[in-house]
Amino acid sequence: MPSSASSFTRTMTPRSLLITGAAGNVGRLLRPLLRQHYVLKVADIVDFQDEEGETKIVGDLASGAFCFDAVKDVDAVVHLAGVVGPDFDFEETIDANYRAVLCLLEACRARTVGRLVFASSHHAVGLYPSSGRYDESIALAPDGYYGLSKAFGEAACGMYARRYGMRTMLLRIGNADPQVVDGRRERIWTSGRDMAQLIDIGLRHPDVECDIVYAVSNCPNPIFDNRRAEELGYRPVDFARENRAADFKQLNELTAEAVGMVGGFFAINDLPAPSGRRA
Ligand SMILES: NC(=O)c1ccc[n+]([C@@H]2O[C@H](COP(=O)([O-])OP(=O)(O)OC[C@H]3O[C@@H](n4cnc5c(N)ncnc54)[C@H](O)[C@@H]3O)[C@@H](O)[C@H]2O)c1
Repeated sequence: MPSSASSFTRTMTPRSLLITGAAGNVGRLLRPLLRQHYVLKVADIVDFQDEEGETKIVGDLASGAFCFDAVKDVDAVVHLAGVVGPDFDFEETIDANYRAVLCLLEACRARTVGRLVFASSHHAVGLYPSSGRYDESIALAPDGYYGLSKAFGEAACGMYARRYGMRTMLLRIGNADPQVVDGRRERIWTSGRDMAQLIDIGLRHPDVECDIVYAVSNCPNPIFDNRRAEELGYRPVDFARENRAADFKQLNELTAEAVGMVGGFFAINDLPAPSGRRA
């Protein structure tokens, strides 16, 4: 590890966090839980309602200057911001999912913020058959431009971890809807409470260096073998089966194509050309 690893002075017991993408679905789910243990700075590119105990900042993380301001006076970062979905082409992901990740990591390096939890996705490995069971050691298999950008984000965190000794946790989130909507997502669902537990581990555990874990609760017929998370002490308390939505659809009500791959319909939709147009 390069000697600059020791420059991260504020790593052991973070008190103050920057949460990016704070206005989004996962941000809104996690903020009340994380506010119980941390002082929050909350950031998004769109304006939103902040809560007592939070400091709000609005701006584009693809700007290095904004990132440098955003990580001022925080001990650690939970990076949730990005564009999310199956239909984005490569060009549409560049600023939010590539440039922003690098700007944020670089700002952390410059301000010696030594811990970052990165919201990756199961779509980084979405092209595996859903009949298998996969731990964190599987090779990346992104299922589209969104998944590809998450693979980049994981690699970028790894580069900063290995070059500079920044501690990063790569959370491959399954599905974080408030309730479980169908039998595919039931195999990869996470509650906010369980995701917050994993984030806490990512922010505090002394053995975290650059660790991939799956953000999933207790799921029936789970796709992911979450052995690294368990080694780090993760004990999910919520059960996907107990959180089905009223209009929950069973697996056999979904088309076979949409459930055949880990990435579901993200893995079978028509992929646009990188620039969004097909020649
Ligand atoms: N929701 C899920 O089930 C799920 C599953 C897997 C992974 N994830 C990951 O978790 C994270 C949060 O997901 P979500 O469902 O809350 O998504 P979301 O789209 O609801 O929220 C993302 C937020 O990021 C903000 N953002 C986008 N570009 C930005 C930029 N350049 N600068 C600052 N803010 C920017 C958006 O305004 C938005 O509020 C994402 O990174 C996503 O890839 C979510």
